[in-house]
Amino acid sequence: MSNSALAIVILAAGQGTRMKSQTPKVLHNLAGLPMIGHVLRTATSLDPAHLVVVVRHEAEAISEVVSALAPTSKIVHQDEIPGTGRALETALSALPADFKGDIAVLSGDVPLLSVELIIRLLKEHVSADASATILSAKVKKPRGYGRIVREGNGDVREIVEESDADDDTKKIDEVNSGTYVFRFQGMRELLEGISTNNAQGEKYLPDVVAAMRSAGSKVNAFATRQLWQVNGVNDRAQLARVAKRLNRTLIKQHQAAGVYFLDPDSVWVDVDVSIGADTQILPGTVLRGATTIAEGATIGPDTTLVDTEVGAGAVVKRTEATLSVIGAGVTVGPWALLRPGTEISEKAKVGTFVEVKNSKIGRGTKVPHLSYIGDAEIGEETNIGAGAITANYDGVKKHKTIIGSRVKTSAHNVFVAPVTIEDDTYTGAGTVVRRDVPKGSLAVNVVTQKNIEGWVAKNRPPSENKEH
Ligand code: UD1
Ligand code: CA
Repeated sequence: MSNSALAIVILAAGQGTRMKSQTPKVLHNLAGLPMIGHVLRTATSLDPAHLVVVVRHEAEAISEVVSALAPTSKIVHQDEIPGTGRALETALSALPADFKGDIAVLSGDVPLLSVELIIRLLKEHVSADASATILSAKVKKPRGYGRIVREGNGDVREIVEESDADDDTKKIDEVNSGTYVFRFQGMRELLEGISTNNAQGEKYLPDVVAAMRSAGSKVNAFATRQLWQVNGVNDRAQLARVAKRLNRTLIKQHQAAGVYFLDPDSVWVDVDVSIGADTQILPGTVLRGATTIAEGATIGPDTTLVDTEVGAGAVVKRTEATLSVIGAGVTVGPWALLRPGTEISEKAKVGTFVEVKNSKIGRGTKVPHLSYIGDAEIGEETNIGAGAITANYDGVKKHKTIIGSRVKTSAHNVFVAPVTIEDDTYTGAGTVVRRDVPKGSLAVNVVTQKNIEGWVAKNRPPSENKEH
Protein backbone atom coordinates (compact mmCIF):
# COMPACT_ATOMS: atom_id res chain seq x y z
CA MET A 1 0.00 0.00 0.00
CA SER A 2 1.46 3.31 -1.01
CA ASN A 3 1.26 6.38 1.15
CA SER A 4 -1.77 7.98 -0.52
CA ALA A 5 -1.27 11.33 1.20
CA LEU A 6 2.28 11.78 -0.07
CA ALA A 7 3.77 12.91 -3.36
CA ILE A 8 7.53 13.32 -3.78
CA VAL A 9 9.14 15.67 -6.28
CA ILE A 10 12.85 15.44 -7.06
CA LEU A 11 14.38 18.52 -8.69
CA ALA A 12 17.06 17.58 -11.21
CA ALA A 13 16.72 20.08 -14.03
CA GLY A 14 19.62 22.33 -13.06
CA GLN A 15 22.73 22.60 -15.17
CA GLY A 16 25.34 21.69 -12.59
CA THR A 17 27.95 23.94 -14.22
CA ARG A 18 30.11 24.01 -11.11
CA MET A 19 31.08 20.35 -11.61
CA LYS A 20 32.93 21.31 -14.85
CA SER A 21 32.06 17.95 -16.33
CA GLN A 22 30.63 16.29 -19.43
CA THR A 23 28.64 14.07 -17.06
CA PRO A 24 25.45 15.65 -15.69
CA LYS A 25 25.88 16.49 -12.01
CA VAL A 26 23.22 14.16 -10.64
CA LEU A 27 24.73 11.23 -12.58
CA HIS A 28 28.14 11.44 -10.95
CA ASN A 29 29.00 8.21 -9.19
CA LEU A 30 28.63 8.11 -5.43
CA ALA A 31 29.41 4.77 -3.78
CA GLY A 32 28.33 2.77 -6.80
CA LEU A 33 25.13 4.65 -7.63
CA PRO A 34 24.59 7.83 -9.62
CA MET A 35 23.99 10.64 -7.13
CA ILE A 36 20.31 10.85 -8.00
CA GLY A 37 20.04 7.08 -7.39
CA HIS A 38 20.47 7.70 -3.66
CA VAL A 39 17.65 10.25 -3.70
CA LEU A 40 15.44 7.89 -5.72
CA ARG A 41 16.04 5.06 -3.24
CA THR A 42 15.16 7.29 -0.34
CA ALA A 43 12.05 8.52 -2.15
CA THR A 44 10.83 5.05 -3.17
CA SER A 45 11.31 3.64 0.30
CA LEU A 46 8.79 6.22 1.53
CA ASP A 47 6.37 4.62 -0.93
CA PRO A 48 4.66 7.80 -2.14
CA ALA A 49 1.47 7.78 -4.20
CA HIS A 50 3.29 9.90 -6.81
CA LEU A 51 6.98 10.29 -7.56
CA VAL A 52 7.84 13.03 -10.03
CA VAL A 53 11.33 13.88 -11.30
CA VAL A 54 11.94 17.23 -13.03
CA VAL A 55 14.61 17.28 -15.75
CA ARG A 56 15.89 19.68 -18.39
CA HIS A 57 19.66 19.77 -18.85
CA GLU A 58 20.93 16.41 -20.14
CA ALA A 59 17.32 15.30 -19.88
CA GLU A 60 17.79 12.17 -21.97
CA ALA A 61 20.70 10.74 -20.00
CA ILE A 62 19.09 11.53 -16.65
CA SER A 63 15.66 10.17 -17.68
CA GLU A 64 17.22 6.89 -18.74
CA VAL A 65 18.84 6.41 -15.34
CA VAL A 66 15.72 7.53 -13.46
CA SER A 67 13.43 5.13 -15.35
CA ALA A 68 15.84 2.27 -14.77
CA LEU A 69 16.17 2.91 -11.03
CA ALA A 70 12.58 3.99 -10.31
CA PRO A 71 10.31 2.64 -13.06
CA THR A 72 7.15 3.95 -11.39
CA SER A 73 8.37 7.54 -11.35
CA LYS A 74 7.03 10.15 -13.69
CA ILE A 75 9.51 12.34 -15.54
CA VAL A 76 8.52 15.91 -16.44
CA HIS A 77 10.45 18.43 -18.50
CA GLN A 78 11.04 21.97 -17.29
CA ASP A 79 10.79 24.70 -19.95
CA GLU A 80 13.17 27.62 -20.55
CA ILE A 81 12.00 29.55 -17.48
CA PRO A 82 14.77 28.86 -14.95
CA GLY A 83 14.64 28.27 -11.23
CA THR A 84 13.60 25.79 -8.59
CA GLY A 85 10.18 27.45 -8.35
CA ARG A 86 9.50 26.81 -12.01
CA ALA A 87 10.77 23.26 -11.58
CA LEU A 88 8.22 22.53 -8.85
CA GLU A 89 5.47 24.29 -10.80
CA THR A 90 6.18 21.93 -13.71
CA ALA A 91 6.10 18.91 -11.42
CA LEU A 92 2.80 19.89 -9.83
CA SER A 93 1.07 20.06 -13.20
CA ALA A 94 1.76 16.31 -13.45
CA LEU A 95 -0.21 15.58 -10.26
CA PRO A 96 -3.97 15.06 -10.24
CA ALA A 97 -5.67 18.37 -9.44
CA ASP A 98 -7.69 16.73 -6.66
CA PHE A 99 -4.66 15.30 -4.85
CA LYS A 100 -5.32 15.86 -1.16
CA GLY A 101 -1.95 15.27 0.39
CA ASP A 102 1.46 16.85 0.91
CA ILE A 103 4.42 17.15 -1.42
CA ALA A 104 7.94 16.49 -0.22
CA VAL A 105 10.44 18.33 -2.40
CA LEU A 106 13.94 16.82 -2.61
CA SER A 107 16.97 17.83 -4.64
CA GLY A 108 18.82 15.47 -6.92
CA ASP A 109 22.05 16.93 -5.57
CA VAL A 110 21.43 16.29 -1.86
CA PRO A 111 22.15 12.56 -1.78
CA LEU A 112 22.63 11.73 1.91
CA LEU A 113 19.26 12.85 3.22
CA SER A 114 17.81 9.88 5.10
CA VAL A 115 14.35 8.37 5.11
CA GLU A 116 14.19 8.93 8.87
CA LEU A 117 14.81 12.66 8.55
CA ILE A 118 12.14 13.05 5.86
CA ILE A 119 9.65 11.14 8.04
CA ARG A 120 10.54 13.47 10.90
CA LEU A 121 9.95 16.50 8.65
CA LEU A 122 6.59 15.10 7.50
CA LYS A 123 5.54 14.53 11.11
CA GLU A 124 6.46 18.09 12.07
CA HIS A 125 4.50 19.36 9.08
CA VAL A 126 1.37 17.36 9.83
CA SER A 127 1.32 17.95 13.58
CA ALA A 128 1.77 21.73 13.12
CA ASP A 129 -0.86 21.72 10.35
CA ALA A 130 1.51 23.97 8.35
CA SER A 131 1.27 25.01 4.71
CA ALA A 132 5.02 24.66 4.36
CA THR A 133 7.76 23.10 6.46
CA ILE A 134 11.34 23.81 5.49
CA LEU A 135 14.19 21.57 6.50
CA SER A 136 16.85 24.00 7.72
CA ALA A 137 20.22 23.69 9.42
CA LYS A 138 22.49 25.92 11.45
CA VAL A 139 25.90 25.87 9.84
CA LYS A 140 29.27 27.46 10.51
CA LYS A 141 29.78 28.52 6.90
CA PRO A 142 26.40 29.55 5.48
CA ARG A 143 27.93 30.87 2.24
CA GLY A 144 26.11 29.84 -0.92
CA TYR A 145 22.91 28.79 0.84
CA GLY A 146 19.58 30.60 1.12
CA ARG A 147 19.19 32.15 4.61
CA ILE A 148 16.15 31.56 6.81
CA VAL A 149 14.96 34.98 7.98
CA ARG A 150 12.79 34.79 11.11
CA GLU A 151 10.55 37.34 12.80
CA GLY A 152 11.28 38.50 16.32
CA ASN A 153 8.86 35.83 17.64
CA GLY A 154 10.70 33.08 15.75
CA ASP A 155 8.23 32.67 12.89
CA VAL A 156 9.77 32.24 9.44
CA ARG A 157 9.41 35.41 7.42
CA GLU A 158 11.25 34.60 4.19
CA ILE A 159 14.23 32.88 2.60
CA VAL A 160 16.85 35.09 0.98
CA GLU A 161 19.32 33.70 -1.51
CA GLU A 162 23.02 34.47 -1.04
CA SER A 163 23.12 36.55 -4.22
CA ASP A 164 20.21 38.70 -3.07
CA ALA A 165 21.26 39.06 0.58
CA ASP A 166 22.57 42.20 2.23
CA ASP A 167 25.44 42.02 4.71
CA ASP A 168 23.22 41.56 7.76
CA THR A 169 21.23 38.77 6.12
CA LYS A 170 24.46 37.07 5.09
CA LYS A 171 25.36 36.80 8.78
CA ILE A 172 22.36 34.53 9.44
CA ASP A 173 23.66 31.04 10.06
CA GLU A 174 20.39 29.13 9.62
CA VAL A 175 20.19 27.95 6.00
CA ASN A 176 17.66 26.39 3.69
CA SER A 177 18.55 22.76 2.94
CA GLY A 178 16.48 22.78 -0.26
CA THR A 179 14.20 20.09 1.19
CA TYR A 180 10.61 21.02 1.98
CA VAL A 181 7.13 19.69 2.59
CA PHE A 182 4.21 21.67 1.12
CA ARG A 183 0.48 21.24 1.26
CA PHE A 184 -0.53 20.57 -2.35
CA GLN A 185 -3.78 22.49 -2.44
CA GLY A 186 -3.18 26.11 -3.42
CA MET A 187 0.51 25.54 -4.17
CA ARG A 188 0.30 25.81 -7.94
CA GLU A 189 -1.41 29.19 -7.79
CA LEU A 190 1.28 30.45 -5.41
CA LEU A 191 4.09 29.28 -7.69
CA GLU A 192 2.45 30.87 -10.73
CA GLY A 193 2.56 34.20 -8.91
CA ILE A 194 6.30 34.13 -8.25
CA SER A 195 8.48 36.49 -10.26
CA THR A 196 11.98 36.18 -11.67
CA ASN A 197 12.82 39.58 -10.29
CA ASN A 198 16.06 38.72 -8.46
CA ALA A 199 19.83 38.63 -8.91
CA GLN A 200 19.76 35.36 -10.88
CA GLY A 201 16.62 36.08 -12.92
CA GLU A 202 15.09 32.80 -11.75
CA LYS A 203 11.80 31.72 -10.23
CA TYR A 204 12.97 30.84 -6.73
CA LEU A 205 11.03 28.13 -4.95
CA PRO A 206 11.96 29.64 -1.56
CA ASP A 207 9.99 32.76 -2.57
CA VAL A 208 6.74 30.88 -1.90
CA VAL A 209 7.53 31.25 1.78
CA ALA A 210 7.05 35.03 1.74
CA ALA A 211 4.00 34.62 -0.51
CA MET A 212 2.45 32.14 1.93
CA ARG A 213 3.13 34.46 4.84
CA SER A 214 1.37 37.35 3.13
CA ALA A 215 -1.57 35.03 2.46
CA GLY A 216 -1.67 34.28 6.18
CA SER A 217 -0.54 30.66 5.87
CA LYS A 218 1.61 28.91 8.42
CA VAL A 219 5.26 28.31 7.48
CA ASN A 220 7.65 26.42 9.74
CA ALA A 221 11.33 25.64 9.54
CA PHE A 222 12.60 22.50 11.20
CA ALA A 223 16.31 22.74 11.97
CA THR A 224 18.22 19.48 11.84
CA ARG A 225 21.50 18.97 13.66
CA GLN A 226 22.60 16.27 11.27
CA LEU A 227 24.32 18.72 9.00
CA TRP A 228 25.95 16.10 6.82
CA GLN A 229 22.52 14.91 5.70
CA VAL A 230 21.68 18.21 4.06
CA ASN A 231 25.03 18.74 2.31
CA GLY A 232 24.41 19.67 -1.30
CA VAL A 233 26.81 18.70 -4.06
CA ASN A 234 27.56 21.55 -6.42
CA ASP A 235 31.24 20.95 -7.17
CA ARG A 236 33.85 18.19 -7.06
CA ALA A 237 35.15 19.12 -3.62
CA GLN A 238 31.64 18.78 -2.15
CA LEU A 239 31.19 15.47 -3.96
CA ALA A 240 34.40 14.16 -2.41
CA ARG A 241 33.29 15.30 1.03
CA VAL A 242 29.89 13.65 0.70
CA ALA A 243 31.49 10.47 -0.64
CA LYS A 244 33.85 10.31 2.33
CA ARG A 245 31.00 10.81 4.76
CA LEU A 246 28.87 8.11 3.14
CA ASN A 247 31.83 5.73 3.07
CA ARG A 248 32.41 6.22 6.77
CA THR A 249 28.74 5.51 7.46
CA LEU A 250 28.81 2.33 5.37
CA ILE A 251 31.98 1.08 7.08
CA LYS A 252 30.45 1.72 10.50
CA GLN A 253 27.48 -0.44 9.48
CA HIS A 254 29.82 -3.25 8.44
CA GLN A 255 31.80 -2.89 11.68
CA ALA A 256 28.57 -3.17 13.64
CA ALA A 257 27.90 -6.41 11.75
CA GLY A 258 31.26 -7.86 12.78
CA VAL A 259 33.63 -6.93 9.95
CA TYR A 260 37.20 -5.95 10.86
CA PHE A 261 38.86 -2.99 9.11
CA LEU A 262 42.52 -2.42 9.94
CA ASP A 263 42.43 1.12 8.51
CA PRO A 264 38.86 2.19 7.68
CA ASP A 265 39.95 5.46 6.11
CA SER A 266 41.87 3.67 3.37
CA VAL A 267 38.98 1.39 2.36
CA TRP A 268 36.14 2.29 -0.04
CA VAL A 269 32.88 0.37 -0.04
CA ASP A 270 29.92 0.80 -2.41
CA VAL A 271 26.37 0.86 -1.02
CA ASP A 272 25.35 -2.61 -2.20
CA VAL A 273 28.43 -4.51 -1.02
CA SER A 274 27.81 -7.22 1.59
CA ILE A 275 30.48 -8.58 3.92
CA GLY A 276 30.23 -11.50 6.36
CA ALA A 277 31.21 -11.36 10.01
CA ASP A 278 34.85 -11.95 10.98
CA THR A 279 36.07 -10.99 7.56
CA GLN A 280 39.16 -8.80 7.65
CA ILE A 281 39.49 -5.91 5.24
CA LEU A 282 43.08 -4.70 4.97
CA PRO A 283 44.29 -1.24 3.88
CA GLY A 284 43.90 -0.03 0.32
CA THR A 285 40.89 -2.22 -0.46
CA VAL A 286 38.11 -1.01 -2.77
CA LEU A 287 34.87 -3.01 -2.91
CA ARG A 288 32.65 -2.04 -5.80
CA GLY A 289 29.21 -2.77 -7.19
CA ALA A 290 27.44 -5.94 -6.13
CA THR A 291 30.48 -7.52 -4.47
CA THR A 292 29.61 -10.04 -1.76
CA ILE A 293 32.09 -11.49 0.68
CA ALA A 294 31.24 -14.37 3.02
CA GLU A 295 32.42 -14.83 6.62
CA GLY A 296 35.99 -15.15 7.77
CA ALA A 297 37.68 -14.03 4.57
CA THR A 298 40.74 -11.81 4.34
CA ILE A 299 40.71 -9.17 1.62
CA GLY A 300 43.67 -6.91 0.82
CA PRO A 301 45.88 -5.12 1.21
CA ASP A 302 45.57 -3.17 -2.05
CA THR A 303 42.75 -5.17 -3.58
CA THR A 304 39.90 -4.03 -5.83
CA LEU A 305 36.86 -6.27 -6.23
CA VAL A 306 34.13 -5.30 -8.69
CA ASP A 307 30.87 -7.29 -8.77
CA THR A 308 32.78 -10.25 -7.35
CA GLU A 309 31.67 -13.03 -5.02
CA VAL A 310 34.08 -14.31 -2.38
CA GLY A 311 33.46 -17.46 -0.35
CA ALA A 312 34.02 -18.06 3.35
CA GLY A 313 37.60 -18.05 4.56
CA ALA A 314 39.09 -17.06 1.21
CA VAL A 315 42.28 -14.98 1.20
CA VAL A 316 42.60 -12.40 -1.57
CA LYS A 317 45.80 -10.32 -1.53
CA ARG A 318 46.88 -7.47 -3.82
CA THR A 319 44.39 -8.52 -6.45
CA GLU A 320 42.09 -6.91 -8.97
CA ALA A 321 38.94 -8.94 -9.78
CA THR A 322 35.87 -8.14 -11.85
CA LEU A 323 32.72 -10.27 -12.26
CA SER A 324 34.48 -13.26 -10.76
CA VAL A 325 33.56 -15.97 -8.28
CA ILE A 326 36.16 -16.93 -5.69
CA GLY A 327 35.16 -20.03 -3.75
CA ALA A 328 35.42 -20.82 -0.05
CA GLY A 329 38.95 -21.33 1.23
CA VAL A 330 40.55 -20.17 -2.02
CA THR A 331 43.74 -18.13 -1.98
CA VAL A 332 44.34 -15.49 -4.63
CA GLY A 333 47.44 -13.33 -5.18
CA PRO A 334 49.50 -11.49 -4.33
CA TRP A 335 49.35 -9.72 -7.71
CA ALA A 336 46.60 -11.58 -9.51
CA LEU A 337 44.20 -10.25 -12.14
CA LEU A 338 40.81 -11.96 -12.37
CA ARG A 339 38.83 -10.81 -15.36
CA PRO A 340 35.12 -11.38 -16.04
CA GLY A 341 33.94 -14.97 -16.05
CA THR A 342 36.57 -16.33 -13.67
CA GLU A 343 35.26 -19.06 -11.36
CA ILE A 344 37.59 -20.53 -8.80
CA SER A 345 36.22 -23.49 -6.82
CA GLU A 346 36.84 -24.23 -3.13
CA LYS A 347 40.37 -24.51 -1.82
CA ALA A 348 41.96 -23.77 -5.15
CA LYS A 349 44.86 -21.35 -5.50
CA VAL A 350 45.60 -18.64 -8.02
CA GLY A 351 48.99 -17.25 -7.13
CA THR A 352 51.45 -14.55 -8.02
CA PHE A 353 51.35 -12.76 -11.38
CA VAL A 354 48.51 -14.91 -12.65
CA GLU A 355 45.84 -13.56 -15.00
CA VAL A 356 42.61 -15.52 -15.42
CA LYS A 357 39.76 -14.73 -17.81
CA ASN A 358 36.50 -16.57 -18.55
CA SER A 359 37.79 -19.79 -17.00
CA LYS A 360 36.79 -22.37 -14.43
CA ILE A 361 39.38 -23.62 -12.01
CA GLY A 362 38.34 -26.79 -10.17
CA ARG A 363 38.38 -27.60 -6.46
CA GLY A 364 41.86 -27.85 -4.96
CA THR A 365 43.61 -26.97 -8.22
CA LYS A 366 46.67 -24.73 -8.10
CA VAL A 367 47.90 -22.15 -10.59
CA PRO A 368 50.64 -20.72 -8.39
CA HIS A 369 52.93 -18.62 -10.57
CA LEU A 370 53.29 -16.43 -13.69
CA SER A 371 50.47 -17.74 -15.87
CA TYR A 372 47.73 -16.68 -18.26
CA ILE A 373 44.59 -18.83 -18.12
CA GLY A 374 41.95 -17.70 -20.63
CA ASP A 375 38.86 -19.53 -21.91
CA ALA A 376 39.92 -22.65 -20.02
CA GLU A 377 38.31 -25.31 -17.88
CA ILE A 378 40.54 -27.01 -15.37
CA GLY A 379 39.40 -29.97 -13.27
CA GLU A 380 40.07 -30.80 -9.61
CA GLU A 381 43.35 -31.27 -7.73
CA THR A 382 45.38 -30.35 -10.77
CA ASN A 383 48.70 -28.52 -10.55
CA ILE A 384 49.59 -26.06 -13.27
CA GLY A 385 53.36 -25.44 -13.46
CA ALA A 386 54.91 -21.99 -13.45
CA GLY A 387 54.63 -19.97 -16.63
CA ALA A 388 51.64 -21.76 -18.17
CA ILE A 389 50.02 -19.94 -21.06
CA THR A 390 46.75 -20.86 -22.71
CA ALA A 391 47.17 -19.63 -26.29
CA ASN A 392 43.44 -19.06 -26.70
CA TYR A 393 43.50 -16.61 -29.60
CA ASP A 394 44.42 -17.59 -33.15
CA GLY A 395 44.21 -14.01 -34.37
CA VAL A 396 40.60 -14.40 -35.44
CA LYS A 397 38.78 -16.52 -32.89
CA LYS A 398 39.08 -17.51 -29.25
CA HIS A 399 39.35 -21.22 -28.46
CA LYS A 400 39.00 -23.36 -25.37
CA THR A 401 41.59 -25.27 -23.37
CA ILE A 402 40.31 -28.19 -21.31
CA ILE A 403 42.55 -29.62 -18.64
CA GLY A 404 41.25 -32.52 -16.54
CA SER A 405 41.60 -33.51 -12.91
CA ARG A 406 44.82 -34.61 -11.15
CA VAL A 407 46.91 -33.32 -14.05
CA LYS A 408 50.48 -32.11 -13.47
CA THR A 409 51.70 -29.70 -16.09
CA SER A 410 55.35 -28.76 -15.96
CA ALA A 411 56.99 -25.34 -16.10
CA HIS A 412 56.71 -23.13 -19.17
CA ASN A 413 53.98 -24.90 -21.09
CA VAL A 414 51.93 -23.39 -23.88
CA PHE A 415 48.47 -24.90 -24.50
CA VAL A 416 47.52 -24.10 -28.07
CA ALA A 417 43.71 -24.06 -28.03
CA PRO A 418 41.49 -25.77 -28.90
CA VAL A 419 43.13 -28.58 -26.99
CA THR A 420 42.16 -31.14 -24.34
CA ILE A 421 44.46 -32.54 -21.68
CA GLU A 422 42.65 -35.49 -20.12
CA ASP A 423 42.64 -36.59 -16.46
CA ASP A 424 45.75 -37.99 -14.76
CA THR A 425 48.24 -36.75 -17.35
CA TYR A 426 51.67 -35.09 -17.11
CA THR A 427 53.43 -32.69 -19.44
CA GLY A 428 57.18 -32.07 -19.71
CA ALA A 429 58.89 -28.74 -19.06
CA GLY A 430 58.73 -26.36 -22.01
CA THR A 431 56.17 -28.43 -23.89
CA VAL A 432 54.01 -26.70 -26.46
CA VAL A 433 50.83 -28.76 -26.27
CA ARG A 434 49.22 -28.66 -29.72
CA ARG A 435 47.52 -32.05 -29.69
CA ASP A 436 45.11 -33.59 -27.21
CA VAL A 437 46.75 -35.58 -24.42
CA PRO A 438 44.96 -38.88 -23.63
CA LYS A 439 44.30 -39.99 -20.05
CA GLY A 440 47.31 -41.23 -18.14
CA SER A 441 50.00 -40.14 -20.62
CA LEU A 442 53.02 -37.82 -20.55
CA ALA A 443 53.21 -35.18 -23.28
CA VAL A 444 56.68 -33.99 -24.33
CA ASN A 445 57.80 -32.31 -27.51
CA VAL A 446 60.97 -30.46 -26.63
CA VAL A 447 64.13 -31.23 -28.63
CA THR A 448 66.42 -33.67 -26.84
CA GLN A 449 69.23 -31.77 -25.18
CA LYS A 450 72.80 -32.36 -26.26
CA ASN A 451 75.86 -31.06 -24.33
CA ILE A 452 78.91 -30.04 -26.40
CA GLU A 453 82.01 -30.43 -24.26
CA GLY A 454 84.65 -27.66 -24.37
CA TRP A 455 82.43 -25.37 -26.46
CA VAL A 456 82.89 -22.30 -24.28
CA ALA A 457 86.69 -22.32 -24.17
CA LYS A 458 86.79 -22.82 -27.92
CA ASN A 459 84.14 -20.31 -28.96
CA ARG A 460 84.28 -17.71 -26.23
CA PRO A 461 87.87 -17.30 -25.13
CA PRO A 462 88.02 -15.25 -21.88
CA SER A 463 90.09 -12.39 -23.36
CA GLU A 464 87.48 -11.59 -25.99
CA ASN A 465 84.61 -11.84 -23.58
CA LYS A 466 85.86 -9.24 -21.08
CA GLU A 467 83.66 -6.33 -22.15
CA HIS A 468 80.54 -8.15 -20.90
C1 UD1 B 1 19.05 25.99 -3.55
C2 UD1 B 1 18.13 26.97 -2.82
C3 UD1 B 1 18.84 27.50 -1.58
C4 UD1 B 1 19.29 26.34 -0.71
C5 UD1 B 1 20.12 25.34 -1.50
C6 UD1 B 1 20.36 24.11 -0.66
C7 UD1 B 1 16.78 28.03 -4.56
C8 UD1 B 1 16.57 29.26 -5.36
N1 UD1 B 1 17.82 28.07 -3.71
O1 UD1 B 1 20.18 26.71 -4.00
O2 UD1 B 1 17.97 28.35 -0.85
O3 UD1 B 1 20.04 26.86 0.39
O4 UD1 B 1 19.41 24.92 -2.67
O5 UD1 B 1 21.18 23.18 -1.31
O6 UD1 B 1 16.03 27.10 -4.65
N2 UD1 B 1 16.89 22.82 -10.34
C9 UD1 B 1 15.87 22.57 -11.24
N3 UD1 B 1 15.52 23.57 -12.12
C10 UD1 B 1 16.14 24.77 -12.14
C11 UD1 B 1 17.19 25.02 -11.20
C12 UD1 B 1 17.52 24.02 -10.31
O7 UD1 B 1 15.30 21.49 -11.25
O8 UD1 B 1 15.78 25.60 -12.97
C13 UD1 B 1 17.28 21.74 -9.40
C14 UD1 B 1 18.76 21.41 -9.50
O9 UD1 B 1 18.96 20.37 -10.45
C15 UD1 B 1 19.07 20.96 -8.09
C16 UD1 B 1 18.09 21.74 -7.23
O10 UD1 B 1 17.07 22.18 -8.09
O11 UD1 B 1 18.82 19.58 -7.91
C17 UD1 B 1 18.76 22.93 -6.55
O12 UD1 B 1 19.28 23.79 -7.55
P1 UD1 B 1 20.68 24.52 -7.37
O13 UD1 B 1 20.92 25.35 -8.58
O14 UD1 B 1 21.73 23.58 -6.98
O15 UD1 B 1 20.29 25.50 -6.16
P2 UD1 B 1 21.26 26.10 -5.08
O16 UD1 B 1 21.98 27.26 -5.66
O17 UD1 B 1 22.06 25.04 -4.47
CA1 CA C 1 22.51 22.87 -4.98
